[in-house]
Amino acid sequence: MAVSNRTNIADEIKSRCNIVDVIGRVVTLKKAGSNYKGLCPFHNEKTPSFVVSEQKQIYTCFGCGATGDVISFVERYYNLDFRGAVEQLAKEYGIELTGAFASNGDKDELYEINRQAARFFYKALRKEDNPAYRYMRGRGISNETLNQFGIGYADDEWTSLTDHLTGMGFEPQKLVELGLCSVSKGRYYDKFRGRVIFPIQNTRGKVIGFGGRVLGDGMPKYLNSSESPVFLKKNNLYGLNLSKDAVVKENEIILVEGYMDVISVYQAGVRNVSASLGTALTENQARLIKRYTKNVVLSYDADDAGQMAAMRGVDILYGEDCKARVLVVSDGKDPDEFIKQHGRQAFLDLVKEAVPYGDFKLNYVKRKYDMDDEQQRIDFLGEAVDILKKMKPVEADIYIKKLSEEYGISERAIRMEYQSENDSGTSSQRIRIHKEQTEKATHNVERTLLKLMLLDEKYEQIPEDVQSLLFKGPAEEAIRRRIQECAGMERPFSMAKLCEELDEDVAAELLQIDEMPVSADKEDEIFHDCIRFVRLEELKRRDEELTSILSIADESTPEEILVKYMEEKIEIQKKINGLGGRS
Ligand code: CTP
Ligand code: MN
Repeated sequence: MAVSNRTNIADEIKSRCNIVDVIGRVVTLKKAGSNYKGLCPFHNEKTPSFVVSEQKQIYTCFGCGATGDVISFVERYYNLDFRGAVEQLAKEYGIELTGAFASNGDKDELYEINRQAARFFYKALRKEDNPAYRYMRGRGISNETLNQFGIGYADDEWTSLTDHLTGMGFEPQKLVELGLCSVSKGRYYDKFRGRVIFPIQNTRGKVIGFGGRVLGDGMPKYLNSSESPVFLKKNNLYGLNLSKDAVVKENEIILVEGYMDVISVYQAGVRNVSASLGTALTENQARLIKRYTKNVVLSYDADDAGQMAAMRGVDILYGEDCKARVLVVSDGKDPDEFIKQHGRQAFLDLVKEAVPYGDFKLNYVKRKYDMDDEQQRIDFLGEAVDILKKMKPVEADIYIKKLSEEYGISERAIRMEYQSENDSGTSSQRIRIHKEQTEKATHNVERTLLKLMLLDEKYEQIPEDVQSLLFKGPAEEAIRRRIQECAGMERPFSMAKLCEELDEDVAAELLQIDEMPVSADKEDEIFHDCIRFVRLEELKRRDEELTSILSIADESTPEEILVKYMEEKIEIQKKINGLGGRS
C-alpha cells in the first residue's frame, strides 16, 4: 500500500513496525509478563524501568517518564525529526512512501526488476519441453501448482536473464544488487543457470527474491538471492503470500523447512503452510506469523539438523507468545516425501498429534540419557529444570507434575531443584551484595547522627519517616534512649555518667561514637546529608521492590494495580531525582 499523508503514514508505520523489534535492536529487552523491559536509553539507570508494550505499541520509562510510540522512539533515539524517523523505518520495513513522503523510487525499481525476472523465468518454464518442467512434473508437481507458485526455469546460458533485463533498460548494477547477476572482469553473468526457480514473494505479493534448485543432484542444491534492500531473509516466509488466508481460516500455520515441502503440502490440499527459507526461524518471522495466527506447528525434517532447528524454533515462538507444537514425520525424511506417500489425511493426523512445546523439549533432551540409570536420571532432571525455568510458572507447574509421573521423580524433588535454580541467579546475588553495602552505610549514618545528638539536642529532632527506619540495632537503640534520658543534662555530656546505665558492649560503642571526628560548623550539613541518605535509600529500596512487582505482572494482573504501582514508581523516581540521587 502506498501512503502519503502524515496521519496515514504514522498509522501504517505503527502497524507494520513492531515497536519491540525496533527498540529491541538498540535496547536489550527482556520479556516481563506481557511486556518487555530494559535499561532506559534516555537516562542513566542500573535497574530497568523502561517498559515496552507490544500490545499497545508504546514504550514508557518509569524512571525518566519518557514515553511514546515507535516513531517518537526513533526520533528521540536517533535524533531525527518526524520525517527522518518515518523514512528510516519505512526503509527498514519495506514500506512504500509516496506523495510528500516519497523517497524510494529506488526500491520500486528493484521490485520491478524482480517482477520482470520472475516473468522471464516463468515463461521459460512454460515453453515446450524444458528440463525444469520435466524435473518438476517428475516430482509430481501439477501444472496448476507450477502456476500458483510462479515456478520458473533459468536456462543453461550465461547471460539470458542479464541480456533480457538490460535490454529492457535496467542498469546491470541493479541486477547485481539484487543478486541476479555476478560481475567478473567487467562482464555480467546470470547467477541462476540450469535451475528450477522459486520466486519468493512477500505478503503483499511483491517478488523479493529467488531460490534456484539444481536439476538433479548437483551442488550446491540451492542458490538463493543475496540479501538486498528488498530482500531480508529474516523478515520473510516462503509461501505465506499464498497461504495467509488459509492460515487465518485454520487459525494455525504449519512451518516446514523447504521450498519443495511448501509446494507439495500445498498441492496436497493443506494450504496453511509456509517455510522459513532454510534458516533457523527468526523473531521477525515469528512476529510476521503472529499477524495471522498464534498457533504454529513446526514440521521440520526428521534428521538431527531438522530437530535441532525445531528446538531453536520453539524457543523463538515461545518467546513471541505463540503456541508452538512439533510434528515429526514418522516416515520419509521431510513433509514433501511423507505427504506424497501417505496423502493429505495421514499428514493432517500427524498435525493433530503434534506435541506441545514443553513435551517436545523434554523428550528431546531425554534421548541423551539412560533413564534406567540413577545418575543419568538426576542429570536429566537438571537439564529438564533448565527447560522449566524458561516457562511461565503456571506451565512449569504442569510439567513438574508430568515429569514426576512419567519418570518417577518426586514432585517435591523437582520443585526444590526448580526453586533453588531460580533463586541462585546472579541478580539475587547482586541484590544481596547491594543490601549488605546499604546496611553498612546505614549503620554509619546512625552512628553519625548519635554523635551529633551528643553535641547538640537539636539533632535529636529526626523527622518521623527517617526515624522509623533507623536505630534498629540493639546498641544504637540503647544509646539513643540513653541520650534522650539525659536530655536535661548539660552538654558536653559526661561520658562516665552516660555509660553508667549501659551494658559493657553498648558503652564501648558509645565511647567509639564519641570519638568520631566531626568538623565544627559542618554539623548542620552533615545532619541533613544523613537524613537525605536515609530517605534516598528507602526510595531506592521501594523502587526495586516495585520493579520486581511489576516484572512479575502479566495479563492476569489487574490493570488498576499496575497503574497504581506505575504511578508510585514515577513518583518515587521524581523524588529520587529531587534528592539528587540516581536510580
Ligand atoms: N537450502 C538452501 N541452500 C541449500 C540447501 C537448502 O537455501 N544449499 C534451503 C532451501 O530453502 C531448502 C531448505 O533449505 O528448501 C531445505 O533444504 P532441503 O530439505 O535440503 O531441501 P528441500 O526443499 O527438501 O528440497 P528437495 O526436496 O528438492 O531436496
Ligand atoms: Mn525435500
